[in-house]
Amino acid sequence: MEKIIYLDNAASTKVDQRVLDAMIPYFTEIYGNASSNHVFGEQAKKAIDKAREQTANIINARPTEIIFTSGATEAINLALKGYVEANFHKGNHIITVKTEHKAVLATCEYLEERGIEVTYLSVNKEGLISLQKLQKAIRPETILIAIMYANNETGVIQPITAIGKIARENNIAFFSDATQAIGKIKVDVANDNIDMLCFSGHKINGPKGIGVLYKKKDIQLTPLIHGGGQENGLRAGTYNTPLIVGLGKACELAVEEFEKRRKETLELRDKFEKDIEKKGIGIVCFKNGNRVPHISCIQLNNEEADKFLIKNSDHFVASNGSACNAALIEASHVYKEIFEEPNKIIRISF
Ligand SMILES: Cc1ncc(COP(=O)(O)O)c(C=O)c1O
Repeated sequence: MEKIIYLDNAASTKVDQRVLDAMIPYFTEIYGNASSNHVFGEQAKKAIDKAREQTANIINARPTEIIFTSGATEAINLALKGYVEANFHKGNHIITVKTEHKAVLATCEYLEERGIEVTYLSVNKEGLISLQKLQKAIRPETILIAIMYANNETGVIQPITAIGKIARENNIAFFSDATQAIGKIKVDVANDNIDMLCFSGHKINGPKGIGVLYKKKDIQLTPLIHGGGQENGLRAGTYNTPLIVGLGKACELAVEEFEKRRKETLELRDKFEKDIEKKGIGIVCFKNGNRVPHISCIQLNNEEADKFLIKNSDHFVASNGSACNAALIEASHVYKEIFEEPNKIIRISF
């Protein structure tokens, strides 16, 4: 059988061999509990401290502002539910966007069932929110704005600096899901006035099952998980040292190799996009917009995405929506929001 080309790197990436090599000793030799008061525990704790620095560095945060979680989904749940619960006395209104990842939308729906009011902003044909509409949606009782950095299905980057400024001027906390931005574009939480931000190891050649919530020092959260008090009481449970070490290493490599990876990815994407249009297969969406380098959104000319992907599944794999939507028959909620023919859109990710 011909080798199948993997074009679904926005869903997950291959673990870098150097990441795996860094992790292995923490399964086999340095397996102590990082909270234990002996040499095995101290070695594990030291490795976690290093990973915390590497992880903070990729977003220009302080190591003390990093909370390790099981992934972006958990970090999103902690940010939204945790912030609402701890700040309910200040107000009961959240602003988010219709094209957020399901982890944000489903958490917002859960909060709505518990009396929180949520405004869902629309995006335009370019996949962007309107800053004027964001301003207009703000109420005296608005406590949180949750807007993703870059969309996982379109690749479009939102005007994060301007959103951060609006949030700051109105004294509202700003959370951004940066899962598709980290390692692909420069993210700086201090510069962008971001109060909370999440991302995930497996999107940056790190392991699955590990992610991060960055939380600025003065932001109050109620934990989702109670127990042994790890992560300053915000995320209890024995430290998963190998995965944390892997995430730290993946962040370090993503910083060191940023320019090289960006250049290589853009070369691949641009060549691919030219070919797709030249061969009359489809048109490239959001071509002139501000978008991440690893995602290409294609509107097929003559075929439905499902049929096209099945027909070509011996040659390459890609997506017709995010991986989380794959079990649903319906077209992706993001494509439905933006396109007239959402069933004709495929996502190629490098
Ligand atoms: C934008 C975005 N947010 C959140 C997630 C969920 O990440 P995790 O798999 O770490 O829970 C993903 C993964 O698909 C994503 O692309």
